[in-house]
Amino acid sequence: MSISVLGIFVADLAFFGEKIPSEGETIIGKKYIIGPGGKGSNQAVAAAKAGAKTYFISKIGDDHFGSMAKKIYDESEVDYSNVIISKEHSTGAAGILVNKNSGANSINVVPGAAGELQISDIDKATDSIKKSSIFLTQLEAPLEVVMYSIKVANQHLVKTILNPAPAASIDKEIFSMVDYFTPNETEASYYVNHPIETIDDAKQASKKILEMGVKNVIITLGEKGAYFENKNEQHIVSKANLDNPILDTTGAGDAFNAGLAVALSEGKNIKESLNFASATAGLSATKFGTANSMPLRDEIEKIL
Ligand code: RIB
Repeated sequence: MSISVLGIFVADLAFFGEKIPSEGETIIGKKYIIGPGGKGSNQAVAAAKAGAKTYFISKIGDDHFGSMAKKIYDESEVDYSNVIISKEHSTGAAGILVNKNSGANSINVVPGAAGELQISDIDKATDSIKKSSIFLTQLEAPLEVVMYSIKVANQHLVKTILNPAPAASIDKEIFSMVDYFTPNETEASYYVNHPIETIDDAKQASKKILEMGVKNVIITLGEKGAYFENKNEQHIVSKANLDNPILDTTGAGDAFNAGLAVALSEGKNIKESLNFASATAGLSATKFGTANSMPLRDEIEKIL
């Protein structure tokens, strides 16, 4: 079965240094890379590379960064017939600062053309959403468009995954239309109003988030793995066993969400799906970049 992803594409400009500079500080960096990014686009590329027929819904500019998007979709076989090419708007970009020792990052993303997505663009993509078994989205595209897309998927009985990144206020009625809610620890704390540092904090937060109406919650916890809960089950997901060191965690959350979507679309049970997601995320962090770091299906299967 196929997957539809709504989200943004931007060009990532990533700078690697001994640390992430603090406010007012300049550091001499070690290297930089420019490559395809944007959470939704990264998720679509990761899902396609992990083996799913994937439709991506977005808007890009008719420019150099837009060509970068088309190149990665051709290479990874993402269906981009629902990616609108705007003559009026430029493709966006993200400035990413990476600590080269830990792989941690900070991001400022400017959505550009994708920030101009309209509700009518979702209507045009409804056939692809209807054909999919999973609909995956985040909160980088305009919020009213994201909310509308979840309603459309829900009306057509397509399972929804909402990756609330970056965290933002969500209409109350939307929570009950979300099958899988996948914040990281920072995003989860936004919704529950307390910090999340331990598995116990994640358990407490998951209960509160389930009360908001979502069916399943998965809090990703970086090095500590992830925590899953629904009204019947709870699982602590350990991080994947990797053969190579962590180089860059940017996009690991996107890889996790894509891996989850792929495994669920194949009918894997929740434990198998969480392990598949964790392996996809772990492998993506062993390479530099975001979309370009997404693993192929056989690489994922090898470490499972
Ligand atoms: O999740 C990583 C992504 O977030 C980057 O590719 C950047 O573009 C931002 O959207």
